[in-house]
Amino acid sequence: MGKLGIDLHLDVSGGGPRARSIEAALREAVTSGRLPAGTRLPGTRGLADDLGIARGTVVAAYAQLVAEGWLVSATGSGTRVADVALPPAARAVPVRPVIDLRPGRPDLSLFPHARWSAAVKRSLAAATAGSLDYGDPAGSRALREAVATYVSRARGVRAEPEAVVITSGFTHALAVLSRALRDAGAHTIATEDPGLAHHRRLIHGAGLSTAPLRVGPDGADPADLPSRAGAVLLTPAHQHPRGVVLSREARTAFLAWADEHDGFVVEDDYDGEFRYDRHAAGALQALDPERVVFAGSASKALAPGLRLGWLVVPPRLRIPVLDALAATGATVGAPGQLALADLLDRGDYDRHVRRTRQLYRKRRTELATRLAELTDVPLDGVPAGLHALLPLASAQEERRIVDAGLGAGLQLASLHAAGYWHSAARAKAGLIIGYGTPPQHAWRPALDALTEVLRGAAIRPW
Ligand SMILES: Cc1ncc(COP(=O)(O)O)c(C=O)c1O
Repeated sequence: MGKLGIDLHLDVSGGGPRARSIEAALREAVTSGRLPAGTRLPGTRGLADDLGIARGTVVAAYAQLVAEGWLVSATGSGTRVADVALPPAARAVPVRPVIDLRPGRPDLSLFPHARWSAAVKRSLAAATAGSLDYGDPAGSRALREAVATYVSRARGVRAEPEAVVITSGFTHALAVLSRALRDAGAHTIATEDPGLAHHRRLIHGAGLSTAPLRVGPDGADPADLPSRAGAVLLTPAHQHPRGVVLSREARTAFLAWADEHDGFVVEDDYDGEFRYDRHAAGALQALDPERVVFAGSASKALAPGLRLGWLVVPPRLRIPVLDALAATGATVGAPGQLALADLLDRGDYDRHVRRTRQLYRKRRTELATRLAELTDVPLDGVPAGLHALLPLASAQEERRIVDAGLGAGLQLASLHAAGYWHSAARAKAGLIIGYGTPPQHAWRPALDALTEVLRGAAIRPW
């Protein structure tokens, strides 16, 4: 409500005089924090119209609250919520700054605001009215073409625009794929162990079971594949969380299994653009586009808040995937799709990846150098992505270090606490250091604090 200024909902249904009800409702809105200090209230005429009451009643209520110190009124700038009106509990309490070193996010301070804003503006200016219609559930033609070109060029994927489906990030893609695979006859999806618990939950949410694949230095072990599996979910370029690369032999074995068992491989290429020592291994999908679903996301290269991702779907899964997409009821908004297409087409996406890759490479090197002062045990996996795994001696040591981190102003993630293991039986300990997460200015302090926290820690190779 409130035609002038903010949209304000006030519950004035209580009995008694109207002015009293408005006063009580406004006091409640302030004390609950719904109306923060400084918020400009609707004009008395607008609020009176909205509530269907006389303007004088609202004027009287505002005057009473000004007299009580809840509101302040100044000529020319209307009526605002007063600072003093906030009870102590609702005031902001200063908290010790905590630097987030958990994995899963890029440094959001690197987001290319100017380029993204320009892309939104340009693409909306060029858009036809039709491009703001419901649109193709698989995604806008412009973005599917741009993605097909990009993933072929950057990741060696074999993609036609017709095979591309735009999703709200990989999370949405996996929910959709799980349903599609179930409808195509799968009952079980094999997943990496350790691997993201959240991904297992999405698969379970579609009514499928998961089966664990041990992850060794060569990536997921195809020998663990149960015959009942209808598909396997892998992170071949940079296993999450170990950071190892799927070996050539394992790649061949997974594809042979898919062929033999009429199964599918889902290739989660979540950070494939970020390899620091050499060119990233090309996509597994290129070896068998009939059996491999390639999945990419803008969450690492740009920002997870954009919620933009893509699938390259084998012909046999296209209808099941489109049906599953329709069943989830969620498609991706046009402005984000149009802007991403623009960014990809102009090469700005590649430029941003190249720039941030340099920064993350530097951080990875600095992290490894500092840790080498403390231990001979190297970080697990290859120099790639935005996180690295540091193996620890025990789950107790994980807990101790996470607590010590909090004391030093660091938020740390550990394998046990984050639920990476399928079962406790094989669980090993480790810290997953999201060196990509902190903003640039916080990276050095984070590294210093981490080095102190890890001094004397029981770091052991697995
Ligand atoms: C293993 C893995 N896959 C995929 C993603 C990307 O998910 P989304 O695209 O939903 O942000 C992440 C992000 O942290 C990840 O860690």
